[in-house]
Amino acid sequence: MKKIVIALDGYSSCGKSTTAKLVAAALGYAYIDTGAMYRAVTLYFLQHHISLTNPKEINEALKNIEVEFHYNPKTKRNEVFLNGLNVEDEIRKMYISNQVSEVSVVPEVRHAMVAQQQKMGKKRGVVMDGRDIGTAVFPDAEVKIFMTADVDTRAKRRQEELLEKKQLINLDEIRENLLKRDLIDSTRKESPLRQAEDAALLDTSHMTIDEQVDFVLERVTSAM
Ligand code: C5P
Repeated sequence: MKKIVIALDGYSSCGKSTTAKLVAAALGYAYIDTGAMYRAVTLYFLQHHISLTNPKEINEALKNIEVEFHYNPKTKRNEVFLNGLNVEDEIRKMYISNQVSEVSVVPEVRHAMVAQQQKMGKKRGVVMDGRDIGTAVFPDAEVKIFMTADVDTRAKRRQEELLEKKQLINLDEIRENLLKRDLIDSTRKESPLRQAEDAALLDTSHMTIDEQVDFVLERVTSAM
């Protein structure tokens, strides 16, 4: 059967990764969490005190960064590795969430990540979630979904996710972080977060995960 690219873009914490994982599992496709890649770069930049205003330093740093996904049979999920080290838990922490959008604005960072993502999806048969998949990474994706949800719903979902990872964060702090990231992500010059003209809008505020997955799978069926 024909293998396609499924692009799930949208605002922070509106259910993209949960939906993407389940869609990928249903189709036997690879799932690529592009946000995790920007988070891993942010962790490296913080660890190595890379200045965001020094393109030479940034380019040097990018040459030394290798981000990979490896399946962990214990947790039954793909986990993120930065230069061979598992950073899955570290990159989800609030201090990374508070810096990642500033790092993601940097054109050199975007060029490097987009090139890597295009390589990862070259053979198609992938579900990729992010902010610019349908507009910049795979403008020819067969299925494009743009996800959104009201900010209070998103903040509550994010808080629950963090709690599962034993991080107790106040709802206002999470809400502020989501709004700040959405603003930076959608106003940056290079591949800003926006709905592609041919993307279907999916507002998940009042939807269950199963409904979200069905919405995507219906479009996959039509695209086949
Ligand atoms: O998806 P997640 O919320 O983990 O993404 C973290 C951040 O990475 C986003 O807020 C955004 O700044 C950046 N990002 C991006 N382009 C993508 C995916 C994520 O700029 N394709």
